[in-house]
Amino acid sequence: MQTSKRVEKLPIYLFMEITRKIAEKRARGEDVVSFAIGDPDIPTPSHIIDRLCEAARDPANHRYPESDGLPRFRQAIAHWYHERFGLDFDPDKEVLPLIGSKEGIGHIALCLIDPGDVALVPDPGYPLYSVGTMLAGGSCHFLPLLEENGFLPDLEAVPAEVARKAKLLWLNYPNNPTGAVADLDFFERVVAFAKKYDLAVCHDGPYTEVAFDGYRPASFLQAPGAREVGVEFHSLSKSYNMTGWRVAMVVGNPILVNALMRVKSNLDSGIPQAVQYAAIAALEGPQECIAEHNAIYQRRRDRIVATLNEIGLPTQSPKASLYLWTKVPEGYTSMEFATKLLDEAGVVVTPGAGYGQAGEGYIRLSLTTPDERVEEGLARLIAWHRGQRGAKPAGHNPIS
Ligand SMILES: Cc1ncc(COP(=O)(O)O)c(C=O)c1O
Repeated sequence: MQTSKRVEKLPIYLFMEITRKIAEKRARGEDVVSFAIGDPDIPTPSHIIDRLCEAARDPANHRYPESDGLPRFRQAIAHWYHERFGLDFDPDKEVLPLIGSKEGIGHIALCLIDPGDVALVPDPGYPLYSVGTMLAGGSCHFLPLLEENGFLPDLEAVPAEVARKAKLLWLNYPNNPTGAVADLDFFERVVAFAKKYDLAVCHDGPYTEVAFDGYRPASFLQAPGAREVGVEFHSLSKSYNMTGWRVAMVVGNPILVNALMRVKSNLDSGIPQAVQYAAIAALEGPQECIAEHNAIYQRRRDRIVATLNEIGLPTQSPKASLYLWTKVPEGYTSMEFATKLLDEAGVVVTPGAGYGQAGEGYIRLSLTTPDERVEEGLARLIAWHRGQRGAKPAGHNPIS
């Protein structure tokens, strides 16, 4: 039996070595504090779960759902976009529910990329933008997100012949993994670029609701002309702590929404209806939970950023997203430094190289670690740093 070339080309799991070490440590009874995963530790708000349980008991929800979701759910999505961003979408033509945004992001590549086509993909970035392109038979031209550009891609730097060939541009703000944000001015430049080169824009926005200090991230679709060129993915995973329920949406350009609907109706049978009713309760119900969760993340952000700066790892405070993006000390790769923190401090962080070449030299820390574990992790980092100053490792610059 031979698996396809496509499967062979799938990247191996870059964090395998770290995952193996964590498992070894835990098997030896050693405790590790993980800042690695962007999966909210706070439970789904109870009014959403109550609706889910009630809907699960209704036999009408025990049968196959429709691929394009309940009309009532599509209306709730349109209503939410209106309330949050002042944008109006036709629930039947410009809105499509998804089984988590990961599902839609993977499948939309099949709507835009034919074998040999090119996608413009941010580096560092959520790995599925490039994996989806590869599964569709295309190739990626990577757009480095550099600190000196606020981790925004330099669209002017894309060679004209590459831009002319490209079918699709991926963007994601507030950004995973850098924590960077984009304003409407940038999105307007994106629309102009997409129109000039006739390419589609897919904006991935699962973190628009996770923001701090009163900051309100924009939707890409608020930029004039954006819906002529693209769509936006949004997810209930991070906005309402619903990663386990798998529910999200894409809104915007009706041609793209319809193309994704056609692909999906051949591949899946939609979202369990009880989950759709829970999602309606999330989108239409009380919204205070968002501010409550953000206050918790903001407190953690401030604690972790202060400690990282104190131990010689200069770190900016992100305005939004669940992530801190920190430069590793000179002389280490991101994997070496992440491994060192695990071995010597019992703290897990994500090596930036896992998000692309331009992620090398950074580590990512997530704000989804429970408060008491954050404090434990920070105490370990401080103790580790004190030890470092006593014993400077040969060949590596000390962390001052
Ligand atoms: C940038 C980005 N896009 C998409 C996703 C997928 O989210 P979900 O499939 O839970 O909606 C994630 C998850 O962490 C993410 O960070």
